[in-house]
Amino acid sequence: MLGKMQDWPLRLTRVLDHAANVHSRREIVTYEADGSVNRSNWFNVARDARKFARYLEANAIKPGDLKASNSWERIISDDADSAMPPTDFKKQLTEKQKEIIKKWIE
Ligand code: HEM
Repeated sequence: MLGKMQDWPLRLTRVLDHAANVHSRREIVTYEADGSVNRSNWFNVARDARKFARYLEANAIKPGDLKASNSWERIISDDADSAMPPTDFKKQLTEKQKEIIKKWIE
């Protein structure tokens, strides 16, 4: 969908590309909760976002292959570091919902 103020679709990828092209080396400083400081820039953020998007495209859902579907592995995981939704998230999937997702992938 085109926006009213530009002749290109208002998509997040486009905004990220703009940031990477025009503000490439502008520093992004993040103060983490543990007191550490993380410094990056828009070039790195855009590169990492593309890398992660490619990973998700290839691995999040593999139709017909539950074991190779990283999303499914996370849904059935007991490991607090990888379980999805996160174990401390207020809404969890019911067994019925998991069954629907399982059938959809299979
Ligand atoms: C390859 C698959 C997935 C990856 C890599 C992934 C990654 C992540 C990450 C990094 C977070 C942030 C965790 C944090 O802040 O501690 C997150 C949050 C979350 N994810 Fe996933 N996820 C995946 C699949 C899923 C699936 C399949 C579901 C639902 C069935 C899901 C539901 C959620 C929810 C509800 C949150 C919390 C959002 C919030 O705190 O507001 N994720 N995910």
